[in-house]
Amino acid sequence: MPATADGTTLDIDRAGTRPRALIDPFRRAITYLRVSVTDRCDFRCAYCMSEHMTFLPKADLLSLEELDRLCSAFVDKGVNKLRLTGGEPLVRRGIMTLVSSLSRHLKTGALKELTLTTNGSQLAKYAAEIKGHGVERINVSLDTLDADKFRAITRWGDLDKVMAGIDAAQAAGLRVKINAVALKGVNEDEIASMLEWAHGRDMDFTVIEVMPLGDVGEARLDQYLPLSMVRSRLAERYTLEDIDYRTGGPARYVRVKETGGRLGFITPLTHNFCESCNRVRITCTGTLYMCLGQDDAADLRGPLRASESDDALYAAIDHAIGRKPKGHDFVIDRRHRNPALSRHMSVTGG
Ligand SMILES: C[S@@+](CC[C@H](N)C(=O)[O-])C[C@H]1O[C@@H](n2cnc3c(N)ncnc32)[C@H](O)[C@@H]1O
Ligand code: SF4
Repeated sequence: MPATADGTTLDIDRAGTRPRALIDPFRRAITYLRVSVTDRCDFRCAYCMSEHMTFLPKADLLSLEELDRLCSAFVDKGVNKLRLTGGEPLVRRGIMTLVSSLSRHLKTGALKELTLTTNGSQLAKYAAEIKGHGVERINVSLDTLDADKFRAITRWGDLDKVMAGIDAAQAAGLRVKINAVALKGVNEDEIASMLEWAHGRDMDFTVIEVMPLGDVGEARLDQYLPLSMVRSRLAERYTLEDIDYRTGGPARYVRVKETGGRLGFITPLTHNFCESCNRVRITCTGTLYMCLGQDDAADLRGPLRASESDDALYAAIDHAIGRKPKGHDFVIDRRHRNPALSRHMSVTGG
C-alpha cells in the first residue's frame, strides 16, 4: 500500500490498479475538495470583487448534475471532506438539490464531512434544510458587527439578514464558525469585540489575512493588516493558549482563556502552511486548481462531458494531482500594486 507524507497507508481499489486515494508528488494525500458552485454573489465585498463584476455566461457553468458527478468522482478517489463555496453558494438556483444528492456519500460513510462557506444572507431560508441533509458545521463570513460598516464592506449586504441567518443556523443545530477578514483601518478595532460576541454565542472565530487575488479596483496594500499584529494586540488583552485543534484547514488555533472559545488565524502571506496541504479546488466551470496561490489549472469539464464513463475524468484528475506544486508564494506587487494572481477569490471560493 502506498504510504503518505504522514505515514498512513491507503487502500487500493478493487482492480488493484488505481490507488483509491489521490497522492501528490510530495506524498500529500488529497482528501479535501472545495467546490465553487457559482461565481455570482449577492454581495460585492470590497476586498473580493469589484462593484461591476462581469460574471460567467450561465451556459459555461456545470449543471447541478455535472457538479454532483464531478464531486462524486473525487469522493470515489478518496476525498472525504467537501466544502461548497462560491461566489455565494446559497444563491445558486437549486443548490439544495446538490446538497441533498451529495449527502448520500455521508450516508455511505465515504464522506466524513459535507459543509459550506456562506455570507449568511440566505441562511434564514435554508439552515434547517441544510442541517436536514447531514451538514453539521458551516462557516459564515462576517467582518463587522456594525451595520453601516457592513454595508460599506459588502457594498450590497444587510447585516440584519446575516444575523437572522446565524440565528436560524444555530436554532437548526448547525455549528457555526465565524470568519472575518482583517482589514486595516476598517475592522481592526473590532476584532476583540467580535471575538467576544462569537465566543459568547459558542461559535469559533477565525481571522483571515487579506490575500492579493484579483483586481478589485482598490489599493490592496491599504487593506493589508498582518495577523501577527492582530495577534499581538489581542495578546495584550487576553491569554492565548496554543492548542492542537486542527480542522484539516490552514487555520492555527489558540484557546482564549478568558472566553473559553477557540480563535483561529489564517495567514497565507506571513506563514507557510503548504507542507500539510490536503486540498484542491474546483470552479463552477469544472476547472481544477491544485493550489490557491498558483495559476496552474486543469480542465475537468472536457473529460466530464466527453463520455458517460468516469474513466477519462479519473485520468484527468490523476494527471492534475501529479502536478500539484509544493507550495505558493504570494507577493503583493508593491511597486505596481498589482495582485499576485489575476483571478478573484470568488472563482476558487477561498
Ligand atoms: C470568496 S468567499 C465565498 C463564500 C461566501 N460568499 C462567503 O463570503 O463566505 C470565501 C471567503 O473568502 C474570503 N475572501 C474573499 N476575498 C478575499 C481576499 N482577497 N483575501 C482573503 N480572504 C478573502 C471571504 O471573506 C470569505 O470568508
Ligand atoms: S467574500 Fe463572499 S460574500 Fe463577499 S463578495 Fe466575495 S463571494 Fe460574495
